[in-house]
Amino acid sequence: QAPQADAIVLFGATGDLSKRMLLPSLYFLDADGFLPEGFKVIATARADLSREAFLAEVQEILQARSEGLDETVWKRFSARLDYVPADATTAEGARALAPALADRKLPFFFLALSPSLYGRVCVALAGAGLVNKDTRIVLEKPIGRDLETSREINVAVGAVFGEESIFRIDHYLGKETVQNLLALRFANTLFEPLWNNLTIDHVQITVAETEGVGDRWPYYDEYGALRDMLQNHMLQLLCLVAMEPPADMDPDSVRNEKVKVLRSLRRFTRQDVQSASVRGQYTAGVVSGRECKGYLEERGQDTDTETFVALRADIDNWRWAGVPFFLRTGKRLPERRTQIAIQFKGVPHSIFGGEAKHDLVANRLVIDLQPDEDIELLLMNKSPGLSSGGMRLQSLPLSLSLLGAYSGPGARRRIAYERLLLDVLNGNSTLFVRRDEVEEAWRWVDGVAEAWKDAGLKPKPYAAGSWGPAGAFALIERAGRGWYE
Ligand code: BG6
Repeated sequence: QAPQADAIVLFGATGDLSKRMLLPSLYFLDADGFLPEGFKVIATARADLSREAFLAEVQEILQARSEGLDETVWKRFSARLDYVPADATTAEGARALAPALADRKLPFFFLALSPSLYGRVCVALAGAGLVNKDTRIVLEKPIGRDLETSREINVAVGAVFGEESIFRIDHYLGKETVQNLLALRFANTLFEPLWNNLTIDHVQITVAETEGVGDRWPYYDEYGALRDMLQNHMLQLLCLVAMEPPADMDPDSVRNEKVKVLRSLRRFTRQDVQSASVRGQYTAGVVSGRECKGYLEERGQDTDTETFVALRADIDNWRWAGVPFFLRTGKRLPERRTQIAIQFKGVPHSIFGGEAKHDLVANRLVIDLQPDEDIELLLMNKSPGLSSGGMRLQSLPLSLSLLGAYSGPGARRRIAYERLLLDVLNGNSTLFVRRDEVEEAWRWVDGVAEAWKDAGLKPKPYAAGSWGPAGAFALIERAGRGWYE
């Protein structure tokens, strides 16, 4: 059992991620009694704010949330909060943190900063004597924008922190429904014997967003959908679907299995560009009744950054040989939906003649991760009633609504970061991404990016509010399948 941390130092505390996710997550952990007695939250950023001014900002943010602010919890939480104005990339800035940490035995650092600063902050922290062999550090994505730059970051951070102390976040792993994939697969006997190429025809993973890029373009334009979503969140989902059963839930047992999947991904080559990939960029359109600008108008100039990507991935191993994984993600799509659909093969032979022969639909397991949290298993049934032409069949869902099953009084959908912050506090890195995992994911994604570059593939326009360029449908139809709607 790893020792519990007694403080978090939150770098970039006035930034968007801290305000939207991290500070509220810490508050909710406190509300639910998960923060240890005496635990401190030391917020730091360059802004020259007093503790009082920072507290007032945090209070306002929490009040503005739909859950509202509980005065008793706020009193407790605000007493833990401190604010230190400092430029943590400099020796002087790191030293400014020392007094706030003087009585702390095991603080952990959370870098909600641009990854280009990670190396310098680590060096400054070590220089100020704030790092020992047990000190943990949490890094946000993106870890680089390709294999080479991710290695540079990993080397810089690794020069100060040991790999077992580095917690790389992929916030999808903090989502309840994503963790539920492990429960679904490995806490039931039902699926695992069928979870392979003998029974499964193909897998679809969709991460659709209605939001556009908006004023995040200075970051986004450097990355695009491939690097922003597919390299991390989508490949993590693919790994959880495809990995072998780990021996146990130990961090390395789980992460070893994920790395094996990434290593088995077939390299994407120039030949695959036309047949197995689509890049798109949204133009003006209407999403949920709202008129939206095109990406180029938001960006203010011409750019080849994709806001949509669809890919076919193949996993060359015993379990998955011959089972394509179709992945698609995009911004400004018609609805917000993260979904995994496991399409089983049809029955080997139909005993049903006449019309019923045409009724047969192959089984499908559909896992909705957000916004709905549902699992549906589509099964064939007899249509009730009589018919002169013999029995008729229909496909009906066996459904499990996770929100429904757990929505007792006071139940609240947790922010993914709550789970992750609690795990760092307790030193459990199962839901964090290991260095070799990030690098294997980049290796594969680099293959895609290079193939696109070689082929000169430009993004195809799609109207905001549509399901991406027509090519995304052609991609899956070429393989004799269709996107599950
Ligand atoms: C982030 C990406 O990692 O994930 C964003 O940078 C994206 O572009 C977001 O919108 C999606 O996360 P969620 O939790 O809303 O699905």
